[in-house]
Amino acid sequence: MISYDEQGHVLIDGLSADALAEQFGTPLYVYSADGFTSYFNAFQKAVSAVDASTHYAVKANSSLGILQILAAEGAGADIVSAGEMIRALKAGIEASDIVFSGVGKSDAELRFALDNGIGQINAESKAELERIGFIAAEMGVVAPVALRVNVDVDAKSHEKISTGQKDTKFGISVADGQAEQLYHWLCEHPHLRACGLAVHIGSQLTSLEPFEMAYTELLAVADRLREAGYDVPVLDLGGGLGVDYHNFSHPDFARYGEMVTRIFGNRGYKLGFEPGRSIAADNGVLLTRILYTKAGEDKRFVIVDGAMNDLIRPTLYEAYHHIEPTRPASKHDQPADIVGPVCETGDYLGRGRELADVGRGDVLMVRSAGAYGAVMMSNYNTRPEAAEILIRAGKAEVLRPRRTVEDLLKAENMLSG
Ligand code: LLP
Repeated sequence: MISYDEQGHVLIDGLSADALAEQFGTPLYVYSADGFTSYFNAFQKAVSAVDASTHYAVKANSSLGILQILAAEGAGADIVSAGEMIRALKAGIEASDIVFSGVGKSDAELRFALDNGIGQINAESKAELERIGFIAAEMGVVAPVALRVNVDVDAKSHEKISTGQKDTKFGISVADGQAEQLYHWLCEHPHLRACGLAVHIGSQLTSLEPFEMAYTELLAVADRLREAGYDVPVLDLGGGLGVDYHNFSHPDFARYGEMVTRIFGNRGYKLGFEPGRSIAADNGVLLTRILYTKAGEDKRFVIVDGAMNDLIRPTLYEAYHHIEPTRPASKHDQPADIVGPVCETGDYLGRGRELADVGRGDVLMVRSAGAYGAVMMSNYNTRPEAAEILIRAGKAEVLRPRRTVEDLLKAENMLSG
């Protein structure tokens, strides 16, 4: 999606980044429709040797326009709240193509999902399973349920986004046959229909090894259940495939697909995938304008109008996002901290960076911001969120207009008396 004109100005799907910043204001998320389509199709192609459905993880980028693009390519949705389900339905994804994950689904959310004909609920505890059974009985329906198992595998990712180890809140342990016993129980329940098993060990995995360990364990559990006479139609393999935040190389969908095919090919299970980051991250950037620069003793501070409330990943996960000016500039010999206006030392987009000689009014582009960027925005410091636009067929469309402070305050009440 990113290229450069002859002078070295940044183009996003052929449009000038500076002109977009000027027209729509900053901070501004810019997405590529073609990028989303081509990444999703590349993923589909990579897993085409197995019988599978892909449920895009809505949490990565839940913009309605993005969901519409993916729905048109045949994507289902992996959701973690009724709110995300409403988005997916609105974007044209069928309820039967939606998988509901998460450890804490409320009664209202479960009722909403069942009422709308959800395709699969991934249950994460015995208590939740019982609750789903109770609600389904009350509603006079049969709930389609898969068990999310915890296979105790270290994803080797950041600890806050690793979900596969036994000391995390996720999944039902496979140790001592716990998950298997619960599956037996599930199969006996008159208001539950066993769909199979699910696993998701974490996000931003940069090696295939932890996936392979988790999938092999999952397959062993599924095979044992089958041998015991239980039906295990679906194995949901979750998401988690990492992206290269330094070099922007395309995620290696092909190698992932080969690994999955080697493990599950011809075993008679229908597979499910829930990729989020690997589809979305590379296909969005955040544009932010420089307000001031300030010389420190051995580094510079480049103060921009985008902040931790617009992109929280750098400070929350020590995440690296490449940052570069959108116009050509000469080298500078001091490293730079790129910081926002929020009153916290933790408010930075990048630290200790080699950044060209830039100044007030210049626009910086923060790359790989299409996943877990805009969806995690907040109004901290009463800052309206960044706007979001999409480049489609050579034109920019506004997906989310910039709100004003007045819009924010309208959502609150003054004291009644
Ligand atoms: N399925 C389940 C059950 C999940 O919990 C997740 C992500 C996914 C699929 C999608 O995983 P992905 O393909 O995107 O890695 N905010 C964090 C990431 C949190 C991921 C949570 N679960 C970040 O900015 O790095």
